[in-house]
Amino acid sequence: MFDAATYVARRKELTERVGSGLVVLLGHDECPMNYADNVYPFRQDSTFLYYVGLDDPGLAVTLDLDSGAQVLYGDDPDPDAVVWTGPQPSLHNRAQQTGMKEVAGSDALQATVQKALRAGRPVRFVPPYRARTLLRLADLLGAEPAQVASRACPRLIGAVVAQRSIKSTEEITHIEQAVEITARMQTAAMQQARPGRVEREIAGHIEGIALACGGRLAFPTIFSVRGEVLHNPFYGNTLGPGQMAVHDCGAESPEHYTGDITRTIPIGGRFDPRQRDVYTLVLETQQAALAAVRPGVEFRAIHRLACEHLAEGLKAMGLMKGDTQEAVAAGAHALFMPCGLGHMLGLDVHDMEALGEDYVGYTDAIRRSGQFGLRSLRLARALEPGFVITVEPGVYFIPALIDRWRAEGRWTDFIHYDRLESWRDFGGIRIEDDVLVTETGGRLLGPPIPKALSDVEALASG
Ligand code: GLY
Repeated sequence: MFDAATYVARRKELTERVGSGLVVLLGHDECPMNYADNVYPFRQDSTFLYYVGLDDPGLAVTLDLDSGAQVLYGDDPDPDAVVWTGPQPSLHNRAQQTGMKEVAGSDALQATVQKALRAGRPVRFVPPYRARTLLRLADLLGAEPAQVASRACPRLIGAVVAQRSIKSTEEITHIEQAVEITARMQTAAMQQARPGRVEREIAGHIEGIALACGGRLAFPTIFSVRGEVLHNPFYGNTLGPGQMAVHDCGAESPEHYTGDITRTIPIGGRFDPRQRDVYTLVLETQQAALAAVRPGVEFRAIHRLACEHLAEGLKAMGLMKGDTQEAVAAGAHALFMPCGLGHMLGLDVHDMEALGEDYVGYTDAIRRSGQFGLRSLRLARALEPGFVITVEPGVYFIPALIDRWRAEGRWTDFIHYDRLESWRDFGGIRIEDDVLVTETGGRLLGPPIPKALSDVEALASG
């Protein structure tokens, strides 16, 4: 974790932003996998990590914004547990690590919350996304579980989003560390993805790199020759010459900051002519989008620019037709790119998504579109220095979507459905990098990761 002063300063800023009431920050408990003592790897809640930093289960914090009292709740280690866990720090030691003086047993939290409620004070918490946290909040509040989410505090959410959106220098160092590990994973995959190997062999190898580097995966790796399935969790295909594998992976740094990088790998080492054309289009689109990153520019405008670039290229390939701007305004290009151009990145791969995507990526003036494709854009608002974002255009040929749109007669003015028949098994191509928004533009984070066509071919052909 960072120095205690970092967490003290973050909590001070939160206190100033929110102003009054009792803030309750719940850390995570262990999460059983198949019986109570066999648990998933522990992952702390990211908002708790941001303000408290303690990476252990069973903790909570209250910040009394009126009196200034800050209390860490938890339990001292059971002396007998030492045989299973080794020596663990006392609650006081943990409090010191995060710059807090006051501690209390876990059981005391309910009394604190109930006292605030009885006094008519606002009890502020962020929306729970784990069932255990939701039930704990229901207990603390004396509420039905179904009522808890609606009692989450918009003012607190807004303040947390405002703070976590702007990455400090020390956070950027950790994100770069995560991207550096992710770069190794990407390079290794390019070297290992040979005809005859099975996807899971590559996926397993790169997960090992994350672990060996002191981190772990930030999200389940996508490594698939079915690249048109955007979040494909299946690793059972044998790699065949002439196929492409979409490889979207990210390591978490030991401090839980994430990388999120995608490359598309030609199996056998050479893209065929159609693959080269689409790869070049996606790469040029990404370069155009990256060049547009700067403070003050709405990310939805960069998304649109990327979509127009793709649509223009697809027209040149004979797959789309008509006026490009009209096609994109109508949403016809979403047949090929049915998702957003990118998202924020930080302690979560989709940073702060648990707080509510619209709080993170939209404003009162910039509302989410309902249009297919555009509605999946996670970040629309104007960029600010300190944002870390992904830029990840792609072109996907999704047979089920093509068939449905064609049957519905959707956007026949813009799409050459007949010509798409020979592209049904093309798969997809995505290229993704992580970018820091600076005062003047954007800076790619981490080391260079091969993406020029010839560099990727060189690595993939060994
Ligand atoms: N890279 C995985 C995702 O953005 O969902």
